[in-house]
Amino acid sequence: MVTIMVNGVRHEVQSPGDTALLYVLRNDLQLMGPQFGCGLAQCGACAVLVDGKEQRSCVTPVASVANQEITTLEGLPARWARQKGLSAEEAKSTLHPVQEAWIEVQTPQCGFCQNGMMIKATELLESNPHPTTAQIKEAFTTSGVSPNLCRCGTYVAIMDAVKNAAEIMAKRS
Ligand code: FES
Ligand code: FES
Repeated sequence: MVTIMVNGVRHEVQSPGDTALLYVLRNDLQLMGPQFGCGLAQCGACAVLVDGKEQRSCVTPVASVANQEITTLEGLPARWARQKGLSAEEAKSTLHPVQEAWIEVQTPQCGFCQNGMMIKATELLESNPHPTTAQIKEAFTTSGVSPNLCRCGTYVAIMDAVKNAAEIMAKRS
C-alpha cells in the first residue's frame, strides 16, 4: 500500500508501488485531467505537479511520490485559492488564472494535450510571474524531460494564454 497526497487529499493506494501514477490517478481516483499520450515521457499530456514541479505521471512509479504534494488539473483552483488565502466559499467558484486564460483565449483545439500545457504554464508562472516570450518558449520546449507536444498546433494560442494568465495573476496579487 502506498499513501499519496493528491489535491490536498490523502489516499491509500492498493496498487503495486511500481504502477504508473497516471493509472492510479485515472483508474483509482477518477481524475481524468491527466491524459495518456505517449506513455514514454515524450509529450507532456500526463503531466502533474509534484511539490510544484511538472512531472510526467506516465513514467512515475506511484511509490516514488509517496507523501509528496501532487496537484492535477482538477486541483488547480484549490491550489490558487490556497495561495491567495481565499475563503472556502470563494474557493468553490474560483478557477486558476491559467484556466481562466485558457478559456479566454480559447486555446484548445481537440484538447488532448492541454492538461500538460496548463500544468507547465502553472509551474512556470509560480516561479516567474512575468515571463518573456523566450522564457515561455523555453519552458515548453527545453525545461522539462521533453517538449510539450500539441498535434493540433496550438502553440501560438498557448503563448497568448500564458501571457494572459500572467496579467490575470498580476491583477489579483
Ligand atoms: S503520456 Fe506521459 S509524457 Fe506523454
Ligand atoms: S489541442 Fe489537440 S493535441 Fe493539442
